[in-house]
Amino acid sequence: MDVAIVGTGYVGLVTGVILADLGNRVICVDRDQAKLDLIAQGKSPIYEPGLEEIIKRTLQEGNLLLSSSIEEATKKSEVVFIAVGTPPGEDGSPDLSAVLAVANAIAPAIDKPTVIVNKSTVPVGTAQLVEDLILSYGTDPGLFEVVSNPEFLREGSAVHDTLRPDRVVVGSKTKSAAMKLVELYSVLEAPIVLTTTTSAELIKYASNSFLAVKISFINAISRICEKCGADVEEVARGMGLDKRIGSQFLKAGLGWGGSCFPKDVQGLTKTGEKLGYRFDLLTAADDINKQQTTHFLTRLEEKLGGLSGKRIGLLGLAFKPNTDDIRDAKSFEIIDYLAGKGAEVIAHDPVAMSNMKEVRPYIDYAKDATEVFQGSDAVILVTEWEQYRGLNLDQLGSQMKSRILFDGRRMWTKTNVERYGYSYSTIGLE
Ligand code: UGA
Repeated sequence: MDVAIVGTGYVGLVTGVILADLGNRVICVDRDQAKLDLIAQGKSPIYEPGLEEIIKRTLQEGNLLLSSSIEEATKKSEVVFIAVGTPPGEDGSPDLSAVLAVANAIAPAIDKPTVIVNKSTVPVGTAQLVEDLILSYGTDPGLFEVVSNPEFLREGSAVHDTLRPDRVVVGSKTKSAAMKLVELYSVLEAPIVLTTTTSAELIKYASNSFLAVKISFINAISRICEKCGADVEEVARGMGLDKRIGSQFLKAGLGWGGSCFPKDVQGLTKTGEKLGYRFDLLTAADDINKQQTTHFLTRLEEKLGGLSGKRIGLLGLAFKPNTDDIRDAKSFEIIDYLAGKGAEVIAHDPVAMSNMKEVRPYIDYAKDATEVFQGSDAVILVTEWEQYRGLNLDQLGSQMKSRILFDGRRMWTKTNVERYGYSYSTIGLE
Protein backbone atom coordinates (compact mmCIF):
# COMPACT_ATOMS: atom_id res chain seq x y z
CA MET A 1 0.00 0.00 0.00
CA ASP A 2 1.18 3.59 -0.64
CA VAL A 3 1.35 5.36 2.69
CA ALA A 4 2.45 8.81 3.86
CA ILE A 5 3.32 9.57 7.48
CA VAL A 6 3.55 13.19 8.48
CA GLY A 7 5.83 13.70 11.48
CA THR A 8 8.98 11.71 12.21
CA GLY A 9 8.84 11.76 16.01
CA TYR A 10 8.66 8.56 18.06
CA VAL A 11 5.27 7.50 16.77
CA GLY A 12 5.60 8.64 13.16
CA LEU A 13 9.10 7.38 12.51
CA VAL A 14 8.64 3.98 14.15
CA THR A 15 5.25 3.41 12.48
CA GLY A 16 6.59 4.51 9.09
CA VAL A 17 9.70 2.40 9.25
CA ILE A 18 7.83 -0.72 10.39
CA LEU A 19 5.09 -0.31 7.76
CA ALA A 20 7.87 0.02 5.15
CA ASP A 21 9.53 -3.11 6.52
CA LEU A 22 6.21 -4.94 6.15
CA GLY A 23 6.30 -4.24 2.41
CA ASN A 24 4.41 -0.96 2.04
CA ARG A 25 5.85 2.01 0.21
CA VAL A 26 6.07 4.67 2.88
CA ILE A 27 6.91 8.36 2.55
CA CYS A 28 7.95 9.85 5.89
CA VAL A 29 7.39 13.59 5.92
CA ASP A 30 8.93 16.17 8.20
CA ARG A 31 9.55 19.90 7.90
CA ASP A 32 12.91 19.47 9.67
CA GLN A 33 15.30 18.88 6.77
CA ALA A 34 18.23 18.09 9.10
CA LYS A 35 16.23 15.22 10.58
CA LEU A 36 15.36 13.90 7.12
CA ASP A 37 19.03 14.11 6.07
CA LEU A 38 20.02 12.08 9.12
CA ILE A 39 17.41 9.41 8.39
CA ALA A 40 18.51 9.35 4.73
CA GLN A 41 22.00 8.37 5.97
CA GLY A 42 20.48 5.40 7.80
CA LYS A 43 20.67 7.08 11.20
CA SER A 44 17.90 7.36 13.74
CA PRO A 45 17.27 10.84 15.19
CA ILE A 46 15.97 9.16 18.37
CA TYR A 47 17.58 6.55 20.59
CA GLU A 48 15.37 3.51 20.13
CA PRO A 49 16.77 -0.04 20.28
CA GLY A 50 16.56 -1.86 16.92
CA LEU A 51 15.22 1.08 14.92
CA GLU A 52 18.36 2.06 13.05
CA GLU A 53 18.83 -1.38 11.49
CA ILE A 54 15.30 -1.27 10.08
CA ILE A 55 15.80 2.28 8.78
CA LYS A 56 18.91 1.12 6.92
CA ARG A 57 17.16 -1.97 5.55
CA THR A 58 14.03 -0.20 4.33
CA LEU A 59 16.07 2.59 2.72
CA GLN A 60 18.15 0.01 0.86
CA GLU A 61 15.06 -1.88 -0.27
CA GLY A 62 13.53 1.38 -1.49
CA ASN A 63 10.37 1.08 0.63
CA LEU A 64 11.21 4.04 2.88
CA LEU A 65 11.16 7.44 1.18
CA LEU A 66 11.61 10.84 2.74
CA SER A 67 10.06 14.16 1.87
CA SER A 68 9.50 17.61 3.29
CA SER A 69 6.36 18.14 1.21
CA ILE A 70 3.02 17.09 2.68
CA GLU A 71 1.39 17.93 -0.63
CA GLU A 72 3.67 15.64 -2.67
CA ALA A 73 3.35 12.79 -0.15
CA THR A 74 -0.47 13.10 -0.05
CA LYS A 75 -0.75 12.99 -3.83
CA LYS A 76 1.32 9.80 -3.95
CA SER A 77 -0.53 7.97 -1.15
CA GLU A 78 -3.83 6.23 -0.44
CA VAL A 79 -3.44 6.56 3.31
CA VAL A 80 -1.98 9.64 5.03
CA PHE A 81 -1.13 9.45 8.72
CA ILE A 82 -0.95 12.52 10.93
CA ALA A 83 1.63 11.75 13.62
CA VAL A 84 2.71 15.09 15.01
CA GLY A 85 3.05 16.29 18.59
CA THR A 86 0.18 17.49 20.77
CA PRO A 87 2.01 19.08 23.72
CA PRO A 88 -0.03 20.55 26.57
CA GLY A 89 -1.19 24.09 25.88
CA GLU A 90 -1.30 26.86 28.47
CA ASP A 91 -4.41 25.50 30.24
CA GLY A 92 -3.24 21.86 30.14
CA SER A 93 -5.40 20.93 27.14
CA PRO A 94 -3.48 19.43 24.21
CA ASP A 95 -2.28 21.99 21.71
CA LEU A 96 -3.70 20.88 18.36
CA SER A 97 -1.99 23.50 16.22
CA ALA A 98 0.48 21.03 14.63
CA VAL A 99 -2.32 18.54 13.80
CA LEU A 100 -4.46 21.26 12.24
CA ALA A 101 -1.49 22.71 10.32
CA VAL A 102 -0.91 19.27 8.76
CA ALA A 103 -4.62 18.91 7.93
CA ASN A 104 -4.47 22.35 6.28
CA ALA A 105 -1.57 21.17 4.13
CA ILE A 106 -3.24 17.85 3.22
CA ALA A 107 -6.60 19.36 2.21
CA PRO A 108 -5.63 21.09 -1.04
CA ALA A 109 -3.63 18.04 -2.18
CA ILE A 110 -6.55 15.56 -2.09
CA ASP A 111 -7.30 14.66 -5.71
CA LYS A 112 -8.23 10.95 -5.36
CA PRO A 113 -9.76 8.73 -2.63
CA THR A 114 -7.64 9.28 0.48
CA VAL A 115 -7.92 7.98 4.02
CA ILE A 116 -6.53 10.45 6.56
CA VAL A 117 -5.49 8.75 9.77
CA ASN A 118 -5.07 10.55 13.03
CA LYS A 119 -2.33 8.80 14.98
CA SER A 120 -1.43 11.74 17.21
CA THR A 121 -2.92 11.62 20.71
CA VAL A 122 -5.86 13.98 20.36
CA PRO A 123 -8.93 14.82 22.42
CA VAL A 124 -12.36 13.52 21.56
CA GLY A 125 -13.84 15.31 18.58
CA THR A 126 -10.56 15.93 16.75
CA ALA A 127 -11.35 13.57 13.84
CA GLN A 128 -14.51 15.61 13.24
CA LEU A 129 -12.50 18.83 13.54
CA VAL A 130 -10.04 17.60 10.89
CA GLU A 131 -12.91 16.49 8.63
CA ASP A 132 -14.63 19.89 8.91
CA LEU A 133 -11.36 21.66 8.22
CA ILE A 134 -10.75 19.64 5.06
CA LEU A 135 -14.33 20.19 3.90
CA SER A 136 -13.84 23.93 4.37
CA TYR A 137 -11.42 23.77 1.41
CA GLY A 138 -14.34 22.69 -0.79
CA THR A 139 -12.94 19.14 -0.94
CA ASP A 140 -15.36 16.57 -2.35
CA PRO A 141 -16.69 14.68 0.75
CA GLY A 142 -16.71 11.48 -1.32
CA LEU A 143 -12.94 11.70 -1.83
CA PHE A 144 -11.68 11.45 1.74
CA GLU A 145 -12.39 10.01 5.18
CA VAL A 146 -10.83 10.74 8.55
CA VAL A 147 -10.01 7.79 10.78
CA SER A 148 -8.72 7.69 14.34
CA ASN A 149 -5.98 5.14 14.97
CA PRO A 150 -4.28 5.82 18.31
CA GLU A 151 -0.83 4.45 18.99
CA PHE A 152 0.12 2.44 22.08
CA LEU A 153 3.86 1.89 21.57
CA ARG A 154 6.22 2.57 24.44
CA GLU A 155 9.54 4.33 24.12
CA GLY A 156 12.43 1.94 24.56
CA SER A 157 10.43 -1.00 23.19
CA ALA A 158 8.78 0.81 20.29
CA VAL A 159 9.81 -1.65 17.57
CA HIS A 160 8.55 -4.66 19.51
CA ASP A 161 5.32 -2.88 20.50
CA THR A 162 4.58 -1.85 16.91
CA LEU A 163 5.16 -5.34 15.54
CA ARG A 164 3.30 -7.09 18.36
CA PRO A 165 0.60 -4.76 19.64
CA ASP A 166 -1.95 -6.07 22.17
CA ARG A 167 -4.60 -4.52 19.93
CA VAL A 168 -5.05 -2.11 17.05
CA VAL A 169 -7.83 0.46 17.48
CA VAL A 170 -9.50 1.88 14.40
CA GLY A 171 -12.22 4.49 14.82
CA SER A 172 -14.11 5.31 11.66
CA LYS A 173 -17.46 6.62 10.44
CA THR A 174 -17.52 4.22 7.52
CA LYS A 175 -16.69 0.59 6.97
CA SER A 176 -14.71 1.30 3.80
CA ALA A 177 -12.16 3.51 5.57
CA ALA A 178 -11.90 1.07 8.48
CA MET A 179 -11.27 -1.78 6.05
CA LYS A 180 -8.37 0.11 4.47
CA LEU A 181 -6.63 0.11 7.85
CA VAL A 182 -7.62 -3.48 8.57
CA GLU A 183 -5.86 -4.36 5.29
CA LEU A 184 -2.77 -2.44 6.37
CA TYR A 185 -2.60 -3.98 9.84
CA SER A 186 -3.88 -7.51 9.23
CA VAL A 187 -0.31 -8.80 8.79
CA LEU A 188 0.35 -8.06 12.50
CA GLU A 189 -2.16 -10.70 13.60
CA ALA A 190 -3.33 -8.50 16.48
CA PRO A 191 -6.99 -8.07 17.48
CA ILE A 192 -8.42 -5.07 15.64
CA VAL A 193 -11.03 -3.09 17.58
CA LEU A 194 -13.40 -1.19 15.30
CA THR A 195 -15.09 1.79 16.94
CA THR A 196 -16.41 5.27 16.30
CA THR A 197 -13.80 8.00 16.00
CA THR A 198 -14.69 9.49 19.40
CA SER A 199 -14.42 6.12 21.16
CA ALA A 200 -11.01 5.53 19.57
CA GLU A 201 -9.82 8.96 20.68
CA LEU A 202 -11.01 8.29 24.22
CA ILE A 203 -9.51 4.77 24.33
CA LYS A 204 -6.05 6.31 24.03
CA TYR A 205 -6.51 8.77 26.91
CA ALA A 206 -8.34 6.24 29.04
CA SER A 207 -5.59 3.64 28.55
CA ASN A 208 -2.69 5.93 29.45
CA SER A 209 -4.60 7.44 32.37
CA PHE A 210 -5.60 4.02 33.69
CA LEU A 211 -1.96 2.88 33.66
CA ALA A 212 -0.91 6.09 35.43
CA VAL A 213 -3.62 5.53 38.08
CA LYS A 214 -2.44 1.93 38.50
CA ILE A 215 1.14 3.09 39.17
CA SER A 216 -0.07 5.83 41.53
CA PHE A 217 -2.16 3.24 43.35
CA ILE A 218 0.85 1.01 44.02
CA ASN A 219 2.89 4.08 44.97
CA ALA A 220 0.23 5.01 47.52
CA ILE A 221 0.43 1.44 48.84
CA SER A 222 4.21 1.90 49.05
CA ARG A 223 3.65 4.76 51.51
CA ILE A 224 1.48 2.50 53.68
CA CYS A 225 4.16 -0.20 53.47
CA GLU A 226 6.81 2.20 54.71
CA LYS A 227 4.65 2.96 57.75
CA CYS A 228 3.57 -0.57 58.66
CA GLY A 229 6.56 -2.75 57.85
CA ALA A 230 5.12 -4.43 54.75
CA ASP A 231 7.15 -4.66 51.51
CA VAL A 232 5.50 -3.16 48.42
CA GLU A 233 7.26 -5.63 46.11
CA GLU A 234 5.65 -8.52 47.97
CA VAL A 235 2.29 -6.77 47.98
CA ALA A 236 2.50 -6.04 44.23
CA ARG A 237 3.42 -9.64 43.46
CA GLY A 238 0.58 -10.96 45.56
CA MET A 239 -1.86 -8.59 43.88
CA GLY A 240 -0.54 -8.93 40.34
CA LEU A 241 -0.98 -12.70 40.16
CA ASP A 242 -4.72 -12.10 40.27
CA LYS A 243 -5.45 -12.08 36.53
CA ARG A 244 -8.10 -9.42 37.05
CA ILE A 245 -5.39 -7.08 38.35
CA GLY A 246 -2.33 -8.18 36.35
CA SER A 247 1.30 -7.67 37.32
CA GLN A 248 2.27 -5.06 34.73
CA PHE A 249 2.55 -1.39 35.68
CA LEU A 250 2.49 -2.32 39.33
CA LYS A 251 6.10 -1.44 40.00
CA ALA A 252 6.39 1.12 42.77
CA GLY A 253 9.03 3.78 42.32
CA LEU A 254 9.61 7.49 42.05
CA GLY A 255 6.50 7.81 39.92
CA TRP A 256 5.59 8.23 36.28
CA GLY A 257 7.14 10.71 33.88
CA GLY A 258 7.75 10.98 30.15
CA SER A 259 6.04 12.75 27.32
CA CYS A 260 2.76 10.82 27.60
CA PHE A 261 1.36 10.00 31.04
CA PRO A 262 1.65 13.49 32.58
CA LYS A 263 0.28 15.13 29.43
CA ASP A 264 -2.54 12.62 28.91
CA VAL A 265 -3.67 12.57 32.54
CA GLN A 266 -3.89 16.36 32.36
CA GLY A 267 -5.57 16.18 28.95
CA LEU A 268 -8.29 13.78 30.12
CA THR A 269 -8.87 15.84 33.26
CA LYS A 270 -9.40 18.87 31.00
CA THR A 271 -11.71 16.92 28.69
CA GLY A 272 -13.79 15.97 31.74
CA GLU A 273 -13.87 19.61 32.86
CA LYS A 274 -15.01 20.79 29.44
CA LEU A 275 -17.78 18.18 29.42
CA GLY A 276 -18.87 19.04 32.95
CA TYR A 277 -17.28 16.09 34.79
CA ARG A 278 -14.69 16.55 37.55
CA PHE A 279 -12.29 13.64 37.22
CA ASP A 280 -11.12 13.60 40.87
CA LEU A 281 -9.50 10.18 40.50
CA LEU A 282 -7.01 11.56 37.98
CA THR A 283 -6.28 14.63 40.08
CA ALA A 284 -5.53 12.34 43.02
CA ALA A 285 -3.28 10.11 40.89
CA ASP A 286 -1.38 13.19 39.77
CA ASP A 287 -0.99 14.41 43.37
CA ILE A 288 0.30 11.02 44.52
CA ASN A 289 2.78 11.08 41.64
CA LYS A 290 4.14 14.46 42.69
CA GLN A 291 4.31 13.53 46.39
CA GLN A 292 6.25 10.35 45.64
CA THR A 293 9.48 12.13 44.69
CA THR A 294 9.25 14.84 47.34
CA HIS A 295 8.62 12.24 50.03
CA PHE A 296 11.66 10.23 48.94
CA LEU A 297 13.86 13.32 48.97
CA THR A 298 12.58 14.32 52.41
CA ARG A 299 13.68 10.91 53.67
CA LEU A 300 17.13 11.56 52.20
CA GLU A 301 17.25 15.02 53.75
CA GLU A 302 16.40 13.58 57.17
CA LYS A 303 19.00 10.84 56.78
CA LEU A 304 21.74 13.35 55.96
CA GLY A 305 20.60 15.93 58.51
CA GLY A 306 20.12 18.53 55.74
CA LEU A 307 21.28 18.78 52.16
CA SER A 308 23.25 22.01 52.08
CA GLY A 309 26.84 21.39 51.03
CA LYS A 310 26.22 17.65 50.60
CA ARG A 311 27.39 15.92 47.42
CA ILE A 312 24.66 13.72 45.96
CA GLY A 313 25.22 11.32 43.08
CA LEU A 314 22.40 10.46 40.67
CA LEU A 315 22.27 7.26 38.65
CA GLY A 316 19.99 7.81 35.66
CA LEU A 317 18.32 10.86 34.16
CA ALA A 318 16.01 9.52 31.44
CA PHE A 319 12.32 9.16 32.35
CA LYS A 320 12.79 5.39 32.08
CA PRO A 321 15.54 3.03 30.87
CA ASN A 322 16.39 2.44 27.20
CA THR A 323 15.61 5.95 26.09
CA ASP A 324 17.44 9.28 26.01
CA ASP A 325 14.12 11.07 26.56
CA ILE A 326 14.11 13.34 29.60
CA ARG A 327 10.71 14.96 29.05
CA ASP A 328 8.94 15.25 32.41
CA ALA A 329 11.53 12.90 33.90
CA LYS A 330 11.66 12.54 37.68
CA SER A 331 15.32 13.58 37.48
CA PHE A 332 14.17 17.20 37.01
CA GLU A 333 12.28 17.26 40.30
CA ILE A 334 15.26 15.63 42.00
CA ILE A 335 17.92 17.94 40.56
CA ASP A 336 15.84 21.05 41.26
CA TYR A 337 15.03 19.97 44.82
CA LEU A 338 18.65 19.12 45.64
CA ALA A 339 20.09 22.21 43.98
CA GLY A 340 17.45 24.34 45.69
CA LYS A 341 18.62 23.02 49.06
CA GLY A 342 22.24 23.84 48.29
CA ALA A 343 23.45 20.31 47.51
CA GLU A 344 26.13 19.60 44.94
CA VAL A 345 24.84 17.17 42.30
CA ILE A 346 26.76 14.80 40.06
CA ALA A 347 24.76 12.73 37.60
CA HIS A 348 25.21 9.93 35.11
CA ASP A 349 23.00 8.42 32.43
CA PRO A 350 24.12 6.04 29.67
CA VAL A 351 22.46 8.08 26.91
CA ALA A 352 20.52 11.06 28.29
CA MET A 353 23.34 13.22 29.72
CA SER A 354 23.75 15.49 26.69
CA ASN A 355 20.00 16.24 26.69
CA MET A 356 20.09 17.13 30.39
CA LYS A 357 23.27 19.21 30.02
CA GLU A 358 21.40 21.56 27.71
CA VAL A 359 18.75 22.36 30.32
CA ARG A 360 20.63 21.82 33.61
CA PRO A 361 24.19 22.86 32.70
CA TYR A 362 25.14 23.77 36.28
CA ILE A 363 25.32 20.26 37.78
CA ASP A 364 28.30 17.93 37.33
CA TYR A 365 28.14 15.09 34.84
CA ALA A 366 30.11 11.90 35.45
CA LYS A 367 32.18 10.23 32.75
CA ASP A 368 30.86 6.88 33.93
CA ALA A 369 28.57 5.48 36.62
CA THR A 370 31.40 4.82 39.06
CA GLU A 371 32.33 8.53 39.26
CA VAL A 372 28.88 9.24 40.75
CA PHE A 373 29.99 7.48 43.94
CA GLN A 374 33.34 9.28 44.33
CA GLY A 375 33.24 11.64 47.29
CA SER A 376 29.43 11.51 47.50
CA ASP A 377 27.45 11.67 50.73
CA ALA A 378 24.68 9.63 49.14
CA VAL A 379 23.74 8.09 45.79
CA ILE A 380 20.18 8.00 44.42
CA LEU A 381 19.13 5.52 41.77
CA VAL A 382 16.70 7.51 39.59
CA THR A 383 16.40 5.38 36.43
CA GLU A 384 16.73 1.61 36.56
CA TRP A 385 19.17 1.10 33.69
CA GLU A 386 20.11 -2.58 33.62
CA GLN A 387 23.82 -1.77 33.57
CA TYR A 388 23.60 -0.21 37.05
CA ARG A 389 22.50 -3.51 38.56
CA GLY A 390 25.95 -5.02 38.13
CA LEU A 391 27.91 -2.14 39.72
CA ASN A 392 30.47 -3.27 42.28
CA LEU A 393 28.75 -1.57 45.21
CA ASP A 394 31.26 -2.84 47.74
CA GLN A 395 34.22 -1.30 45.96
CA LEU A 396 32.32 1.89 45.05
CA GLY A 397 31.16 2.35 48.64
CA SER A 398 34.78 2.73 49.73
CA GLN A 399 35.02 5.84 47.53
CA MET A 400 31.97 7.50 49.12
CA LYS A 401 32.00 9.88 52.07
CA SER A 402 29.28 7.73 53.61
CA ARG A 403 27.72 4.54 52.33
CA ILE A 404 24.18 5.80 51.80
CA LEU A 405 22.12 4.44 48.92
CA PHE A 406 18.62 5.64 48.02
CA ASP A 407 17.08 3.27 45.50
CA GLY A 408 14.17 5.03 43.78
CA ARG A 409 13.27 2.06 41.60
CA ARG A 410 13.69 -1.02 43.78
CA MET A 411 16.66 -2.17 41.74
CA TRP A 412 18.67 -3.76 44.52
CA THR A 413 17.68 -5.81 47.53
CA LYS A 414 18.15 -4.52 51.06
CA THR A 415 20.02 -7.54 52.38
CA ASN A 416 22.46 -7.59 49.45
CA VAL A 417 23.31 -3.92 49.76
CA GLU A 418 23.47 -3.87 53.56
CA ARG A 419 26.02 -6.68 53.37
CA TYR A 420 28.45 -4.04 52.09
CA GLY A 421 27.82 -1.76 55.03
CA TYR A 422 25.41 0.57 53.27
CA SER A 423 22.45 2.32 54.77
CA TYR A 424 19.84 1.38 52.16
CA SER A 425 16.55 3.22 51.71
CA THR A 426 14.03 2.43 49.04
CA ILE A 427 10.40 2.84 48.03
CA GLY A 428 7.79 0.89 49.96
CA LEU A 429 10.08 -0.63 52.56
CA GLU A 430 10.58 0.57 56.13
C1 UGA B 1 3.25 5.16 27.51
C2 UGA B 1 2.30 3.96 27.32
O1 UGA B 1 2.76 2.85 28.08
C3 UGA B 1 2.21 3.58 25.84
O2 UGA B 1 1.26 2.53 25.66
C4 UGA B 1 1.75 4.80 25.03
O3 UGA B 1 1.71 4.53 23.64
C5 UGA B 1 2.74 5.94 25.28
O4 UGA B 1 2.78 6.24 26.70
C6 UGA B 1 2.26 7.14 24.50
O5 UGA B 1 1.16 7.64 24.77
O6 UGA B 1 2.92 7.55 23.52
P1 UGA B 1 5.90 5.51 27.61
O7 UGA B 1 5.59 6.90 28.05
O8 UGA B 1 6.90 5.29 26.52
O9 UGA B 1 4.55 4.75 27.13
O10 UGA B 1 6.47 4.74 28.89
P2 UGA B 1 5.93 3.66 29.93
O11 UGA B 1 6.73 2.43 29.78
O12 UGA B 1 4.48 3.53 29.88
O13 UGA B 1 6.35 4.35 31.32
C7 UGA B 1 5.78 5.59 31.73
C8 UGA B 1 6.29 5.98 33.10
O14 UGA B 1 5.74 5.12 34.10
C9 UGA B 1 7.81 5.89 33.27
O15 UGA B 1 8.25 7.03 33.97
C10 UGA B 1 8.02 4.64 34.09
O16 UGA B 1 9.19 4.70 34.87
C11 UGA B 1 6.77 4.63 34.93
N1 UGA B 1 6.38 3.27 35.40
C12 UGA B 1 5.98 2.33 34.51
C13 UGA B 1 6.40 2.99 36.76
O17 UGA B 1 6.75 3.83 37.61
N2 UGA B 1 5.98 1.74 37.19
C14 UGA B 1 5.57 0.79 36.31
O18 UGA B 1 5.19 -0.31 36.77
C15 UGA B 1 5.57 1.09 34.94
